[in-house]
Amino acid sequence: MKSSFITLEGIDGCGKSSLIRPIASRLTDAGIAVETTAEPTKTWLGDAVRRSYGEEVNPYTEAFLFLADRATHSDWIRNRMEEGKTVISDRYSDSTVAYQAALLQQRLGGKSADYINYLQEIAKPVIITPDITLLLDVDPEISLKRLGGRSELEKFENLDNLRLVRKNYLEIANKSKHIRVIDASKDIAEVKEQIFAALGRHFDMEL
Ligand code: TYD
Repeated sequence: MKSSFITLEGIDGCGKSSLIRPIASRLTDAGIAVETTAEPTKTWLGDAVRRSYGEEVNPYTEAFLFLADRATHSDWIRNRMEEGKTVISDRYSDSTVAYQAALLQQRLGGKSADYINYLQEIAKPVIITPDITLLLDVDPEISLKRLGGRSELEKFENLDNLRLVRKNYLEIANKSKHIRVIDASKDIAEVKEQIFAALGRHFDMEL
């Protein structure tokens, strides 16, 4: 079977990090060789990205750091796919488009559509277009409540920012054929059902 590249996207607290394991096991049970990964990566490039969270950096610096991490990550993903693996990544290119377009717009003004186009354009040489992207869509009021248990909310995790990020995600989804919007406000069992239905259609098998 041809290997696929699957990405999970959505705002903070959408649930994707808890879903990646069940998704991977379901695909493995169906006989698909799966490798999971995440961004920012665990490499020194990912460390540089995480370090920037606590610093005042130019918003373009931030976007380019995510992109630098991704360029090398894309090579790693390509290698796994050449070995016949289906790769599932917790966040990938659409995260930069949705989050950094929001940040650029908040810092510099202008239209989100222009930043979205710019970020999509510069990403082209360093990304692999996913075969399917599952966008876990949820209102930030709900997702922030889910994150409420965490002691410290990170830089990107505030309501106004996440509203913009969600809007950007939905705008990208409107224009991209490979993005499936999943209603992630539902309980986990229902969210899983929507995901397995979408993946089942992609792999043309019952999952
Ligand atoms: P996240 O997957 O939420 O990590 P964790 O589960 O450890 O909190 O990603 C960390 C943050 O980085 C998240 O708020 C989204 C943000 N981010 C971007 O702004 N742009 C990107 O390109 C990526 C990959 C993440």
